[in-house]
Amino acid sequence: MPRQIETPPRFLWGAAISAYQTEGANRNSDWWLFEIKHNLPDHSGRAVDHWHRYREDIDLLAGAELNAFRCSVEWARIEPSEGTYDEEVLRHYDEVLAYARYRGIRVCLTLWHFSLPLWAAKKGGMLNPAIRKRFEVFADLCGRRYRNRVTIWITMNEPMVYLMEGYRWGTWPPGMRSRVQAIHVFFALRDLHRRAYRSLRRAGIRAIGIAKSAIIFQPTKRASGIQHLRAKIKNFIWNHAFFFRQEQFHDIIGINYYITDYLGPNPPKGARDDMGWISNPKGLQMALREYEKYKKPLYVTENGIATDDDHQRVQYIQDHLTALHNAQKQGSDVRGYFYWSLLDNFEWAHGFSKRFGLIAVDRKTMERKPKPSLRAFGDIAQQYADTA
Ligand code: BGC
Repeated sequence: MPRQIETPPRFLWGAAISAYQTEGANRNSDWWLFEIKHNLPDHSGRAVDHWHRYREDIDLLAGAELNAFRCSVEWARIEPSEGTYDEEVLRHYDEVLAYARYRGIRVCLTLWHFSLPLWAAKKGGMLNPAIRKRFEVFADLCGRRYRNRVTIWITMNEPMVYLMEGYRWGTWPPGMRSRVQAIHVFFALRDLHRRAYRSLRRAGIRAIGIAKSAIIFQPTKRASGIQHLRAKIKNFIWNHAFFFRQEQFHDIIGINYYITDYLGPNPPKGARDDMGWISNPKGLQMALREYEKYKKPLYVTENGIATDDDHQRVQYIQDHLTALHNAQKQGSDVRGYFYWSLLDNFEWAHGFSKRFGLIAVDRKTMERKPKPSLRAFGDIAQQYADTA
């Protein structure tokens, strides 16, 4: 793998997870109810019991010579009812963050990764300004409490995905299908981010952003003029509208890259992963270049493949890191890369059938089984560290 990549010594090499997808027993969340109400094929249940096994998971990460971990705190656990904070839960996250530090792992912490406390969801979720105010208080609490243990702060994960899945397609909580509501949510989330940003800033934190789903809209060779125009409009709405006139509220930009959307006849045919997605590593390079214009440090906060063929995963990582390197050569200020995901986990409405992990989990015993890709990814990171 590309020894030639020049990365600064403090480049973050890590893997990502989210609380709801891994911790388990998150009963107080809108997702828990959604799983039951919609009779989803899998129930998150104990998930992969990261709540109890975080030490082992962090050990595996550190043992593979990686130096960073993206994880999230679960609002529904920290604030189980409106205005009540659970000290034991806060202490739990203290311990997780302290343990990561002890193992030499720097943390990228997400405050909100899709799931809401039930009480907040029942009051209209993020569409309700009073709930956004509560989140602001929550951000303030987390900021003050955890500021010395976190390197990068992500206020929210993928706002555009959240609003499409939850409010336009109805495939996630709250299960709505309304274009108008989706537009309201868009503005509510911009407001939410600003509020959280200010809270974290007041706590003296300086590396704050969101994890933005980046999609490349690529006209095919024989695409018409209209398709080129559509690609431009989609690019603006999906990739940039969230940042439009908001740049001052983003210190860094997190990029979650999975997909290239081809517009026009004869889109390239490639092997699809278990999500049905075609891998296009060049799209990562394009995504990084796309967000360069904000002149902020960029972090790849997610990139990964759902497959049971671990060779394919190793190839995927290599190809995407080459793309990252190419973006760097062209001037992108990339400072970290997080593979999604550290663990096979609860892939939302798909349940446990889609496996992105570097580590497999036997869900009966919860035994962790590192896949060869964990070591392979760690080796690549190590080569970077050696040559940096
Ligand atoms: C989300 C993750 C999810 C992954 C794979 C991202 O959109 O942040 O929660 O598991 O993609 O679908």
